[in-house]
Amino acid sequence: MISDRMLAALNKQIGLEGYASFLYLSMASWCDKEGFEGSAQFMHRQSDEEREHMLKIFHYIYEVDGHALTPSIAQAPHDFGTIREMFEEVYKHEQKVTKSIHDLVAISLEEKDHTTYQFLQWYIDEQREEEALMRSILDRIKLIGDGPQSLYYIDKEIEKINKAELAAEAAGEEV
Ligand code: FEO
Repeated sequence: MISDRMLAALNKQIGLEGYASFLYLSMASWCDKEGFEGSAQFMHRQSDEEREHMLKIFHYIYEVDGHALTPSIAQAPHDFGTIREMFEEVYKHEQKVTKSIHDLVAISLEEKDHTTYQFLQWYIDEQREEEALMRSILDRIKLIGDGPQSLYYIDKEIEKINKAELAAEAAGEEV
């Protein structure tokens, strides 16, 4: 049995993961409109991942006899300025999610809820990997430069990263 406080906090996290999924879907659509095909594929995969993160919490809540609530999702923006600005926003959002996961861990400790504490360890690892991935993309954009002549190469780099992520997923591991 899960405490009301822990359950409410997990349901709030469902909303954050759900928003991330829609935010990244909106980014995928913007990339597609701007002609960034590789980045659109990357953001679609990220959006699907966020939906999985959300559903993982749903299933956990069922297991501990709680009630998982479908969240209301705020309208995500539709325009993201430049490809660099878009990835900066992704990185910022991932940092926000990491902080929220750490807050959940703190609550699980306060509630002496070792089951939820254990469940959250997967998210801690996942957030470390997500932040590292977004930082590496921003580093590459910095190296290549994001002037008009560089956009095609940036998109090709992101397409390559996306293929590596897909291959790692298929092999059952993270890159
Ligand atoms: Fe599920 Fe990337 O936060």
